[in-house]
Order: sequence, then C-alpha cells, then structure tokens
Amino acid sequence: MALELGVLLSGRGSNLAAILDAIQEGTLDATVKVVASNKSTAAGLARATERGIPTVFIDPKLFAQEEHPREAYDVAVGNVLKEHRVECVALAGYMRIVTPALIRMFPSQMVNIHPSLLPAFPGLDAQRQVLEWGAKVSGCSVHFVTEGVDEGPIICQKAVVIAEGDTVETLSARILEHEHQLYPRALQLLAQKRLQIEGRIVRVLP
Ligand code: GRF
Repeated sequence: MALELGVLLSGRGSNLAAILDAIQEGTLDATVKVVASNKSTAAGLARATERGIPTVFIDPKLFAQEEHPREAYDVAVGNVLKEHRVECVALAGYMRIVTPALIRMFPSQMVNIHPSLLPAFPGLDAQRQVLEWGAKVSGCSVHFVTEGVDEGPIICQKAVVIAEGDTVETLSARILEHEHQLYPRALQLLAQKRLQIEGRIVRVLP
C-alpha cells in the first residue's frame, strides 16, 4: 500500500515538488495527504495547492500563551497530520526544531533532509558553514528525526565535491539537485518497509 505522507515545510518547497514528481513518475509509492507549515507565506504551500494537495497553516503565535508553547504547537501539528491519516512525516525545509511531543506521535516515521554530510555541519546555513570551514566535500543526508537537531540515524547520503570559487548559492544549487534525487529514494525505501533501525545504524533490507 502507498505510503501516506505528510510534509512539513517553511519555504519554497522544491523538495516537496521532487517528491510529488517521483510519485507521478511512479518511482515513489506514496501519496501526500497534507502539507503543513508554520509560515502562511511559504511558497511550498502554494505549490501544494496547485497540485491539489490539502494545505494547513498552523500559526505558532496562537500557542504563545501556553505553558509549553513549542510542545503545544507540535501536538497541534501532530493532530492535523493524524486527522489527514498521515503515517509518515517528511520535513522538507521545515525551519522549526521539532519537540519529542511530535516525534513520539510518529515513532521511526519522521524523516528530514539536510544539506550537508552529517554529522558534519548540522543546523542552520549548512552550506555557508561548509565553505567557511574550507571543506572540500559536502553533500546531503536523509535521516530519521530524533530529539537532537540533525542527529538521527542516517538513511542515505550523497557527496558533492566543492569547486574552487563556489559560493553559498552555487554550492546550494548543486546540492539541491542531489537532494531532489535522494529524498524520494529514501522515502521509497520507507514505503517498501526496507529500513531497519538498530541503534544509530539504519540497515537497508534487500
Ligand atoms: C533544503 O536545502 C533542505 O536540505 C533544507 O532546507 C532546504 C529546503 O529547500 N532542510 P526546499 O524548500 O525544499 O526548496
């Protein structure tokens, strides 16, 4: 049965588009049930609407008065995803740190894509960090989401060589092309139930 996906994003949504393209091309056995965002203006929401996918904007400001605003927000996000019958959550440029309140609603069923070869350069602005460090190789990683930012078990990675004269823009664009291949591929492994987590290690079953 097709993997029932929910996508969380905050920005332009090119990875969402790549996921939808892979579904359309038949290389990813999934359906995107809903796309949710913490930003009403996220271009990714408009992309989803264009392609007939339900979207939800969940305003973080509505939770500011709660005793634990981040957790309360995440429970609301989790409930929206559950209402749409989502089984697996893909973070695609989602600019919020997810709390355990949300992670535990989707145990071993929440993944993220990050534009570096983890565990190197986690967090914001990875491509800038890479260039400022003087690394010669970077890439992208798809990993399960755990409490530590960009720390979860790695599903797959793609290396990208840094060229002389690369800028944040040129490197980001080159990495992004690989992200668009890697993310649907990782999700297809999930759809096929071929990923087995053993501690930090993700085994890909034949
Ligand atoms: C990607 O570089 C992804 O790795 C990072 O955020 C960016 C999202 O891009 N987590 P897009 O919104 O999918 O175009």
